[in-house]
Amino acid sequence: MVRFLHVQSRQRAPPPICSDCPAVQAEASPYSLLDICLSALTADLEKFCTERRDGTLCLKESERLPQEVADRLLQTMAFHELLNDGTVGIFRGNQMRLKQACIRKAKISALSFRKAFCHHKLVELDAAGMNADVTIADIVSGLGSNKWIRQNLQCLVLDSLTLSLTNPCKGCFKQLSGLRVLSITNVLFHNEDLVEVASLPRLESLDISNTSVTDITALLACKDRLKSLSMHYLKYLSMSTQQVLDILRELKYLNHLDISDDQQFTSDIPVSLLEQKDILPHLESLDISGSKFITDEAVEAFVKQRPAMQFVGLLATDAGYSEFLSGEGSLKVSGGANEIQISEALKRYSERSYFVKEAFFRLFTQTCFMKVTKPEILKLVIIGMRNHPLDLAVQLTASACCLNLTRQGLAAGMPVRLLSDVIHLLLKAVENFPEQQQLQKNCLLLLSSVRILQDVPFNRFEAAKLVMQWLCNHENQNMQRMAVNISSILALKLSSEQTAQLSAELYIVVGELLEIVEQKTNLNEVDTTFMFTLSALWNLTDESPTTCRHFIDNQGLELFMRVLEFFPSDSSIQHKVLGLLNNVAEVRELHSKLMWKDFIDTIGELLCSTEIEVSYFSAGIIAHLISRGEQAWTLSPTQRKSLMEQLHSAVLKWPTPRCKMVALVAYRSFSPFYPLLDCFTIPGVQLWAVWAIQHVCCKTPARYCSMLIEEGGLRHLRDIKENEQTDPDVLQITAEILDSVDTHIRYYGKPKSLQKPEAKSNG
Ligand SMILES: *[C@@H]1O[C@H](CO)[C@@H](O)[C@H](O)[C@H]1NC(C)=O
Ligand SMILES: *[C@@H]1O[C@H](CO)[C@@H](O)[C@H](O)[C@H]1NC(C)=O
Ligand SMILES: *[C@@H]1O[C@H](CO)[C@@H](O)[C@H](O)[C@H]1NC(C)=O
Ligand SMILES: *[C@@H]1O[C@H](CO)[C@@H](O)[C@H](O)[C@H]1NC(C)=O
Repeated sequence: MVRFLHVQSRQRAPPPICSDCPAVQAEASPYSLLDICLSALTADLEKFCTERRDGTLCLKESERLPQEVADRLLQTMAFHELLNDGTVGIFRGNQMRLKQACIRKAKISALSFRKAFCHHKLVELDAAGMNADVTIADIVSGLGSNKWIRQNLQCLVLDSLTLSLTNPCKGCFKQLSGLRVLSITNVLFHNEDLVEVASLPRLESLDISNTSVTDITALLACKDRLKSLSMHYLKYLSMSTQQVLDILRELKYLNHLDISDDQQFTSDIPVSLLEQKDILPHLESLDISGSKFITDEAVEAFVKQRPAMQFVGLLATDAGYSEFLSGEGSLKVSGGANEIQISEALKRYSERSYFVKEAFFRLFTQTCFMKVTKPEILKLVIIGMRNHPLDLAVQLTASACCLNLTRQGLAAGMPVRLLSDVIHLLLKAVENFPEQQQLQKNCLLLLSSVRILQDVPFNRFEAAKLVMQWLCNHENQNMQRMAVNISSILALKLSSEQTAQLSAELYIVVGELLEIVEQKTNLNEVDTTFMFTLSALWNLTDESPTTCRHFIDNQGLELFMRVLEFFPSDSSIQHKVLGLLNNVAEVRELHSKLMWKDFIDTIGELLCSTEIEVSYFSAGIIAHLISRGEQAWTLSPTQRKSLMEQLHSAVLKWPTPRCKMVALVAYRSFSPFYPLLDCFTIPGVQLWAVWAIQHVCCKTPARYCSMLIEEGGLRHLRDIKENEQTDPDVLQITAEILDSVDTHIRYYGKPKSLQKPEAKSNG
């Protein structure tokens, strides 16, 4: 069934639970049409907008987006961290209506916030992690300026924001009389602020984790309303255990209590709480992760006395190992004892780096036994990684988990999109921690998967850079082999500009690769590393004059002559060596380096090889060199003359290029061929060039016919066709190429870039 503009339904229980902020996707299914549209819109927002005088954006269309779509648009922009003073301009005015607004990590001023968001009828606002110059006072007073919001805003998330020091928030929360859910973690929020918040008339859910609160007595003001209380890592709490328990005892309606810690300081509240029989009778969920001295027996007894219990948080404790607490039944458990507990932990704690680390560490042990692909777990790893990009321990443990979750066969079953996210995040991590070898190694190991290299979209330039730098800095044989292998595959996908940008790295890489070739040649060791090294060099020099020069400067030519000498009858080695030398011969400035007698003699002999790929590439080298004319030819004129004849007859011996043989080569452009096509004085040169062009054109017509048309190559071919002195063999192949290009155009039309824009109709 086709889903048309289906707004993904979020599992949205009515408050006290706010809706999920980051877009949650079913990874293996195609993106919904709505997501595709929103991604296209956000990626190119300027195109769909006009600019106001103050530099902010305004959507062009006067149509309105439905409110759900507007909420999703905002959410998508927040997820990609695209919210700034300019972009949030699209939410001004009445074009769109927002209801559940997510502006996480927005980098906007207080004024932009007010103008873009405070006129909407907001029921929820998630402003976590916004830039430091917007304060909680700015947000709350902005919201308070709208009467509708004051009465109806139910859910507000202000995690990791700054409270203003100059303009304290005194009394500002009070106006938000509709508020049911408030989350204000990682904020310098003090006792007097808690007093104000606790008196909100409808407050049901409060999260004051990692705040500066030292005394929670103020909570008594909302004891008849409060259903959910989170006070994870309340590090300055200065009350005695008994005093805290006395307050908790009063919170009779509490369903959820989080008093977890990160093991940095010891509190005996959890242990004492578990011993209480008559406390918190309606509790459904208790989180004591990270607490010391917790036993399975104590937890079990506590849970069994409270029939409504559905969840216990036990990560980083000594508990969770009994069957009752396995997490497999209806009682959910976060912990480190098994995969289910770990998944639960990753789902709940993705914002808490200490717990994420701990869960990854436990997960890593589990992955050693995994036999089946687990995309849902990889996805949780990705979320944790994305939330803590600058936490080295998180990135390291995550990279190890990713590796084992995708090793060997397991990558095959992983959705491409997840693999792409993993590589993206790992490359980011490697960039953030350039000194971390283990991280780099894990990234390399991950990249060495065939599936990832071939099928998964990621930034191949960044990856190639990483792999090459790695190759430059390491000696380890196995890793070196892997790096060579990966760079030979990645190099194929780089543009010539990118290869040029990597010049400095490439100089070292070429040196390294040549060293491998030298070692192997001396040892007479023809193995896969040797072959891949040759391929890598071939690929790296393709249309890259810089790399070709590095090759010459590193004495590559002398070495490759030795390789040809050492392996006189191995045509697959000759093929690669000559392919590379062809690339060098395409660079006119390097011709003088190739003009020495032994080199020309060797290539002249190989021209007569019965192996077509050997003969083909030898002919290419000769064609490039003799096309330069007599002045450039520094060797004997007789030799030049005899080479011309040999070249011509060699090409004529090859099967017609239309026949069904495998493609010998791939070209990125025909530009090296055009000087050869124009070389009317030496028909052998033209003959080689047209043979080569026809060869690839009939293997892959779509690509190469278009290439000829787009590059203006047809002009050179028509010149040949119209010239009366053209050699008959050259003429025939040229005519055939032009015919097949015509046929191609008839079936497929001209390439898009050359089509004339359609005439505009007047009406
Ligand atoms: C606690 O909050 C402060 C800001 O008030 C933040 O710098 C710190 O990283 C937070 N600690 C944890 C463990 O989240
Ligand atoms: C998981 O990865 C570690 C190193 O990263 C490795 O030692 C271990 O063998 C891997 N486990 C499996 C089952 O592949
Ligand atoms: C290099 O990679 C290819 C394909 O990715 C693989 O088949 C081959 O075994 C690898 N060779 C080495 C030496 O790692
Ligand atoms: C790159 O190397 C591969 C493997 O040898 C080869 O098939 C391919 O034609 C080379 N490509 C270029 C552009 O040099």
